Amino acid sequence: MSVIFFPPPIQQINSEIIRSAGVDLYVLRLDLMHPWVNGNKWFKLKYNLLEAKEKNFTTLLTFGGAYSNHIYATAAAGNLFGFRTIGVIRGEERLPLNPTLNFAVQQGMQLVYTNREMYRQRNTPVVEEYLQQRFGEVFIIPEGGSNLNGVRGCMEIIGDAMSTAVTERSRSAGYAYAFDRICVACGTATTLTGIALSLHQGQRAIAFPVLKNGSFLAQEIESLLTNYLASDLPTPSNSPAFWELVCDYHFGGYAKVNKELLLFSQQFREEHGIPLDYVYTAKMFYGVMDLLKQGFFSKGDSLLLVHTGGLQGNVGMEERFQRM
Ligand SMILES: Cc1ncc(COP(=O)(O)O)c(C=O)c1O
Repeated sequence: MSVIFFPPPIQQINSEIIRSAGVDLYVLRLDLMHPWVNGNKWFKLKYNLLEAKEKNFTTLLTFGGAYSNHIYATAAAGNLFGFRTIGVIRGEERLPLNPTLNFAVQQGMQLVYTNREMYRQRNTPVVEEYLQQRFGEVFIIPEGGSNLNGVRGCMEIIGDAMSTAVTERSRSAGYAYAFDRICVACGTATTLTGIALSLHQGQRAIAFPVLKNGSFLAQEIESLLTNYLASDLPTPSNSPAFWELVCDYHFGGYAKVNKELLLFSQQFREEHGIPLDYVYTAKMFYGVMDLLKQGFFSKGDSLLLVHTGGLQGNVGMEERFQRM
C-alpha cells in the first residue's frame, strides 16, 4: 500500500491549568496523518483493507450514519487503494447530500439507504447474506471499523509515539517510555482496546465515552480483549495495561453538544492551534482539562491525549448549529 501517511506529530501544550496540575501534556496529532484517511480511522481500516486485498475482494461494503467519520474515511481509503466501495447509510436519503455523504460520493462510494430496523440487524447472518446476494462478493467491514482487525491496527497508535518521543522527564527518570497516562475518546472502545493492548505495565489508558451511560463499555472492552487474545492475530508480549472509563463528559449523549463545549473548542483552538471535533475529541479534551483542575492526575504525570481526528464532521455539525 503505497499511499503517503505523515507520521503523526506530538505537540506539547501548556496553560495555567496544566502548570498548576504539575503535569506534562502532549497531544498525538493523528488528525494530521492524511487529509482524508486520518485519526483512529486509518488504524481501524488498515488490517481490514489488507485482509480484503489478500482475499482478492474488489469491493468493500460498510455501514454508518449520515455524518459518519468511518463512511468518509472508507470512501477515501477505498479510492486510494483501488477498491469499489458501498456505504449502507442509516435512515432515509436527504437531498442535497450533507458534506460527509457528498464527499463519499465524490470518492466513488455507492450509497444505499436502509431503515433503522434493518440497520439494527446489520450484523446478523440474514442481513449479511442478503447484502452478499444483492451486491455480489463484498468484503464487509463493520460500522466504525470495529472488529479485531480494527483492534490490531489501534495497537500501532501509541507504539511509534512511545519510541520517538521520550520526554526529558522520562529520560532523566530512566523510563523506557514517555507517557504515564494515555487519554482517548471512546465510542465502541475498539481504539481504547488496541491502545491498552499495546502499553507497558505502569502506563494507564483512560477512555472518555461520548455516549450517555458509557459504563456498559467496560464489558465491551473485556470481551474485545478476551476475543483478541484468543484470536490468532499477533499478540503483545505484555498483558493489557490498566484501563479505566471516565463517564462524566458525554454532554447529554452521542453527537450532543452545548454552548459550553462549543466555547471550549473555540478557545482551545485559539490558545493551542489545535482544532477539535465536537462529537469525540472536544469531549475528551474538555474532560481532561476539568480533571486537571480537580487533581485527578498525579503531579509529575506525563499525559498523552490522542487526537483521533473526526474534523470532517464539524462541517455538518456547524451547518446544524446555524439552523438551531
Ligand atoms: C474521531 C473519533 N474519535 C474517537 C472515536 C472512538 O473510537 P472507538 O469507536 O474505537 O471507541 C471515533 C469513532 O470511531 C471517532 O470517529
